[in-house]
Amino acid sequence: MDTLALEATQPRKGQGSSASAGVPGAAPAKRKPAKKTKKAVVFFEVEILDAKTKDKLCFLDKVEPNATIGEIKSMFHRSHPQFYPARQSIRLDPKGKSLKDEDVLQHLPVGTTATFYFRDLGAQISWVTVFLTEYAGPLVIYLMFYFRVPFIYAPKYDFTTSKHWVVHLACMCHSFHYVKRLLETLFVHRFSHGTMPLRNIFKNCTYYWGFAAWMAYYINHPLYTPPIYGEQQVKLALIIFLFCQIGNFSIHIALRNLRPPGSKTRKIPYPTKNPFTWIFLLVSCPNYTYELGSWLGFTLMTQCLPVAFFTMVGFIQMTVWAKGKHRSYLKEFRDYPTLRSPILPFVL
Ligand SMILES: NC(=O)c1ccc[n+]([C@@H]2O[C@H](COP(=O)([O-])OP(=O)(O)OC[C@H]3O[C@@H](n4cnc5c(N)ncnc54)[C@H](OP(=O)(O)O)[C@@H]3O)[C@@H](O)[C@H]2O)c1
Repeated sequence: MDTLALEATQPRKGQGSSASAGVPGAAPAKRKPAKKTKKAVVFFEVEILDAKTKDKLCFLDKVEPNATIGEIKSMFHRSHPQFYPARQSIRLDPKGKSLKDEDVLQHLPVGTTATFYFRDLGAQISWVTVFLTEYAGPLVIYLMFYFRVPFIYAPKYDFTTSKHWVVHLACMCHSFHYVKRLLETLFVHRFSHGTMPLRNIFKNCTYYWGFAAWMAYYINHPLYTPPIYGEQQVKLALIIFLFCQIGNFSIHIALRNLRPPGSKTRKIPYPTKNPFTWIFLLVSCPNYTYELGSWLGFTLMTQCLPVAFFTMVGFIQMTVWAKGKHRSYLKEFRDYPTLRSPILPFVL
């Protein structure tokens, strides 16, 4: 790739000529000599190398000391239009962690000639698109099995309905769950990352869509048999399911309220006036705890093996994430409550 020297001193969008303190070459309004001499700004030189080959990709001259990594990414993007900022990882060390967009050049452990390493994260897709695709899939797929569209079961069952009321209830619960998730993605969550790698969508969709099809096939099968303890089992399962759905939603609202709109702030979550959030006293990621509870309820309701399997895989995945989040809380906040476990109170 070409090495390119860029003047990093053109006024940025919205900055105009008023930002001349950081813009050498900008014409002063009047030519009168200033009475007081301002402290000279020490500009930085930034070179960006390929993290794999160590080839020099870009050289930025006269970068303002208070430039952020996000701004440096935009400058790099001007010389390499294929690498839009969201797909860039800028690091201090070729194998180290990506720097945050908010990191400020002069606060980083670099001299006035800074060397950064670039890694291409690959094509990116917005989180919202990812979640909408992931969650709309199971909703539609499940309904196809529920309505027994042709080519799923024997032709004589096309567009017939099950005689078991639990099958209809299960369809309502499953649809409710994914509609809730879709609405939360659109109106509740305040994500800190705008994008994720495009390839993840294939992986995630295979997981959610595949499991939805597998579960729906058995629950809506004409030969499906209802739970062994009948109505009582289904009613108990419904109570567990609804309780955990409300709990999960309450936690999502509590997390949303921790982050002012448009910010990426991460704070310690604490119980609020809503009793469903009191579980924060014992658990770092109670939204995962409630999610697990919902799927346990659904397993009990349908008494179906693929559902139990989905619950188990989801639990393993959420445990891994919850442990990671718990570790980050402990690292980031010295006053983090010690009583909390990642996902299951006192256990895990
Ligand atoms: N069944 C399954 O297999 C399965 C698996 C995973 C998730 N889920 C469901 O999907 C939901 C969302 O999953 P998720 O992994 O995205 O949950 P998450 O990491 O807990 O995040 C939920 C939202 O809260 C924000 N957030 C988290 N902690 C925060 C803090 N300390 N301060 C401020 N904001 C914070 C997150 O922002 P960031 O963008 O900064 O993270 C995100 O917008 C889960 O609650 C669960 O219901 C299901």
